[in-house]
Amino acid sequence: MKIYKTLLVAALACAASLQSFSQTVSESLPTDYLTKEFHAGRRDALRKMMPDNSVAIIFAYPERVFSEDVNYAYHANPDLYYFSGYKETSAVLLIFKDMQHGQDGDYNELFFVQNRDPQREQWTGKRLGVEGVKTKLGFGKVYNSEEFANSSVDLKKFSTVLYDGIPEDEGNMKGLYNAFKEKAAVPEINSEVLSTLTTIIQYGTPKNLPRIMDYFKAKFELPEYKNNQLMQGFISKPDSASLADLKVKFNTQFGGLVMYSDDMKQLRGVKQPEEVELVKKAVEISSIAHAEVMRAIKPNMSERELQGIFEYVHKKYGAEDEGYPPIVGAGANGCILHYEENNVTEVKNQLVLMDVGAEYHGYSADVTRTVPANGKFTEEQKAIYQLVYDAQEEVFKLCKDGVPYNQLEQKTQEVLANGLIKLGIISKADEVRTYYPHGVSHHMGLDVHDKGEYGGNLKENMIITVEPGIYIPAGSKCDKKWWDIGVRIEDDVVIGKDKCTLLSIDAPRKWQDVEKMVADKSIFDLAKFPPLK
Ligand code: GLY
Ligand code: MN
Ligand code: MN
Repeated sequence: MKIYKTLLVAALACAASLQSFSQTVSESLPTDYLTKEFHAGRRDALRKMMPDNSVAIIFAYPERVFSEDVNYAYHANPDLYYFSGYKETSAVLLIFKDMQHGQDGDYNELFFVQNRDPQREQWTGKRLGVEGVKTKLGFGKVYNSEEFANSSVDLKKFSTVLYDGIPEDEGNMKGLYNAFKEKAAVPEINSEVLSTLTTIIQYGTPKNLPRIMDYFKAKFELPEYKNNQLMQGFISKPDSASLADLKVKFNTQFGGLVMYSDDMKQLRGVKQPEEVELVKKAVEISSIAHAEVMRAIKPNMSERELQGIFEYVHKKYGAEDEGYPPIVGAGANGCILHYEENNVTEVKNQLVLMDVGAEYHGYSADVTRTVPANGKFTEEQKAIYQLVYDAQEEVFKLCKDGVPYNQLEQKTQEVLANGLIKLGIISKADEVRTYYPHGVSHHMGLDVHDKGEYGGNLKENMIITVEPGIYIPAGSKCDKKWWDIGVRIEDDVVIGKDKCTLLSIDAPRKWQDVEKMVADKSIFDLAKFPPLK
């Protein structure tokens, strides 16, 4: 109700400006989007991996409320975008392993999409609708999403239904999820619990059970976990017999319902050439922004002002979004791994850790630089910075086809531990995790922490980050002179046959080059705005 009233009032107020709608202006738009052939190729690749007599269901993400009748800017489900190029909500894509024979012809995919609605489109923008999805995205069988519930699609007849779980806050997707649950006879279960059960079943071994129990221990206290019989049976006695029992009972209850995450890890973890091009652009844009921020940074600037320069440069080059909430942390804030408040009004003469990456046509960069706002590293900051740099250099050498992914982590811990011992910050190698608490690398692509294999070897055309860091918050058990130093250097690489290609080359990494860049002039030095009254 509310929204329509608001819309009506605003509609009347804006009537005069609507005249411009009748004029046609030729638009200049980006020309480097993924093609419909790319998306069709990805659907075929999934089909090849799917088991016999199976169907994969990929939902759009729901809309999320930002405030009252205003939503957050919509972000497409990367899986749906990957397989279709569709960027709207209220949609579900069905990909069948085998050709299906229907009354109006054969098909191996069905797409139910958001309807056209001129009144809504006047407010929130054009929708592709059924015809647009046929012509622009190249699908044959496309319907309005309202038709999904009553369609003749019977998911119970398939041996395997691949899907990705259903979020608790279903929002505008509720109707589609409910129709799916009915069509596939999905047992009622909390999606978090389902996801945890699936993880335990996929990755649990008698050996790693204690680690898994430790990882999930906070969740096991939640009522939805306590009320789930499968979960309880396992939690009360987490041994290898219970794990085997859990697997049997889970399969009985969930039958042919399978999370498609394993297939997605294989598909999205190794990039197609078109994807590499888009990631390159996202990273180049982000690196140019990092370089400009280095030139512009001054001790009297605020964390948010620096964030604003990044975002301006990203937009200047056509990046639609940020790949993740920008992290701009001065001094102590640099020791908070995912600090997002960016609230400090003057960064002063401190080190500023900036982990900021653009998203370009859906693909994210992930780049971190740590910069002294006054252009000079102190001796202690320089020592820590150099150590992080050395670790990164060692890891780059391992980034090539065939190297076990976990060697990157081992090498990082080895270099950082030795360095921290030499500096007198720790005394034994196993203390390294106190000051280096995260991992050195993750896949990167449509998600900043992308789907991909972590267990096996690196493969050509994987795109990963290399991001060692050291964080020494005040109060740490080492000489005070090290306190509040937080350094991360994060770069993005494409894995090649014999070496990797470093994508983030436009942002200096060596401490000497960082200092030089900070001494340089920036176009933003000239930005003068009137003080607020
Ligand atoms: N920017 C998040 C990360 O580095 O993983
Ligand atoms: Mn990262
Ligand atoms: Mn990052």
